[in-house]
Amino acid sequence: MSQLSVRHLEVRYGDLVGVADVSLEVAEGSVVALLGSNGAGKTTTLNAIAGLVRTNRGSIDWGGASITNLPAFAIVPRGLALSPEGWRLFVGQTVEQNLRLGASALGEKRRLPALLERAYAIFPRLAERRHQRAGTLSGGERQMLALARALMSEPKLLMLDEPSLGLAPAIVDALYETLQRLHREGLTLLLAEQSVPLALDIADYAYVLQTGRTVLEGKAKDLAGDPQVQQIYLGIGAA
Ligand SMILES: Nc1ncnc2c1ncn2[C@@H]1O[C@H](COP(=O)(O)OP(=O)(O)O)[C@@H](O)[C@H]1O
Ligand SMILES: [Mg+2]
Repeated sequence: MSQLSVRHLEVRYGDLVGVADVSLEVAEGSVVALLGSNGAGKTTTLNAIAGLVRTNRGSIDWGGASITNLPAFAIVPRGLALSPEGWRLFVGQTVEQNLRLGASALGEKRRLPALLERAYAIFPRLAERRHQRAGTLSGGERQMLALARALMSEPKLLMLDEPSLGLAPAIVDALYETLQRLHREGLTLLLAEQSVPLALDIADYAYVLQTGRTVLEGKAKDLAGDPQVQQIYLGIGAA
């Protein structure tokens, strides 16, 4: 039984089509990858699930109930969190202030100290920098902060939009090890990546988007050797 179910999602930006027809399922406890080259519709799909952009057509169900077009502030408390593309941190605020904002949807503020402690245990680097402004962090540290901020709302499903983008390989390896650990501890992951090998290595199942449509799906280990995946990327690259 799917925890998250997206059916025939269409999102428009005025006259422009963000995604035309995207369907995907995420089972509880799984890691699902959303693949596709630049402009394929990965960010639009995640933002629609997170309630950051409006859906024109289709449905988004979470835990058996519709969350289609609910605002983000109503979606986060249900256990979905997004670590967005480009991090979207408050660069003038400290690390800790950014983390606190991640917990702002929580009704129960008494949990805050424990959640901060947990974030700092996962990312000791952030503990060292807790009083530094986010704008002074390196790219890798900003990604850690974006992820840690998403975890502050105690999600069941964590969505990550291009977590490896622009980071050095050693930092990416460490980040993916952390993601695997979080997954082993029970977190469900929906991961948008341009880096196919990276995503398929960690995922159970993957969907490939092309110009706003789901064009291919399968078990990650089957897609890893599928020449069609390569063709879809190269096809777009040549266009
Ligand atoms: N704010 C926006 N306004 C207009 N068009 C947008 C906007 N954001 C994305 N798009 C368009 O929607 C399509 C999907 O983009 P996006 O979801 O960002 O893809 P990806 O994350 O896979 O790179 C692209 O054609 C892109 O140009
Ligand atoms: Mg994107």
